Amino acid sequence: MSESKGKIAVLTSGGDAPGMNAAIRAVVRTGMARGYEVYGVRRGYNGILNREMDLLTSRDVSEKLQHGGTFLFTARSAEFREEEGKKKAARICKELGIESLIVIGGDGSFTGAKNLSKYGVNVVGIPGTIDLDIAYTEYTIGFDTAVNTAMEAIDRLRETSNSHERCSVVEVMGRSSGYIALWCGIANGAEQIIIPEKFDNNYERLIEQIKLNRESGMTHQVIINAEGIGHSYGLAKQIEEATGIETRATIIGHLQRGGSPTARDRVCASVMGAYAVDVIDQGKRNRLIGYKNGHVYDIDIEEAFKMEKGINEYEYDVAKVLGTKCSYHK
Ligand code: F6P
Repeated sequence: MSESKGKIAVLTSGGDAPGMNAAIRAVVRTGMARGYEVYGVRRGYNGILNREMDLLTSRDVSEKLQHGGTFLFTARSAEFREEEGKKKAARICKELGIESLIVIGGDGSFTGAKNLSKYGVNVVGIPGTIDLDIAYTEYTIGFDTAVNTAMEAIDRLRETSNSHERCSVVEVMGRSSGYIALWCGIANGAEQIIIPEKFDNNYERLIEQIKLNRESGMTHQVIINAEGIGHSYGLAKQIEEATGIETRATIIGHLQRGGSPTARDRVCASVMGAYAVDVIDQGKRNRLIGYKNGHVYDIDIEEAFKMEKGINEYEYDVAKVLGTKCSYHK
């Protein structure tokens, strides 16, 4: 057997996202193909602090691709958030001979990675979050599956809402990002979407539009409310009281985070996982992997953090034209 080129560790951190397993599998198999030993760290950054990691083989990542969640488990580590925690993690990586750490997670996990890099660990990030809220990349692992799951749920809600001639307020995840709501708004033909990037808190106009829709003959209406706006139960009550239309709130919640990843999530996760190893193999340091103009690419972690994510204005306009008939938006 030829000599190992070095040790790479991989972990998943923050909220899980369907496709994370596909990314881990790609890291392990590409790592092995390029001559590295790949260690799987359990429970996010906590796993480094607690030295919970094992050498992974090709067989260890068999039968994982098609499953949601993360077989390495995930966590949000309070200890790692402290400066002392990061110093300790860097010390442990050094002791164990881990030269590079691949972090699969969202922006909170990347902040941790960026700070860890200051203590000499080479970090490479793969965006894994259903929220699609990371500025430097067009795509994050899990978004497609989450949107498809929410879309199916909302289709079902529309049927019952239609039968009862009700109004439905549906809350989808996304933290402070409105992308899941925007995409469901288009995919489900929602009558209105409420997203943090655009909503101006004018509930009166929103309610007025619901009344106008009803007067124009619309028997049922679906209002998609982003988690970043929240208060869906209160909003449903407010709508019902103001319009006299029976209204129900549904919060889809964590159901959006599970399930077998879609082809898009499996493919993007596999490509980014492989690319993360290749970036390390090319001797690059402290990079984030993402998609730009439809192609996988890498960017310096500090540069990536200077970027700001906005909502896609054209897609937002499409959602309004095709379904959202109100004019209360900013
Ligand atoms: O970041 C993914 C996400 O699902 C967000 O959409 C949501 O705000 C958050 O995580 C929920 O976190 P938890 O699983 O800790 O409740």
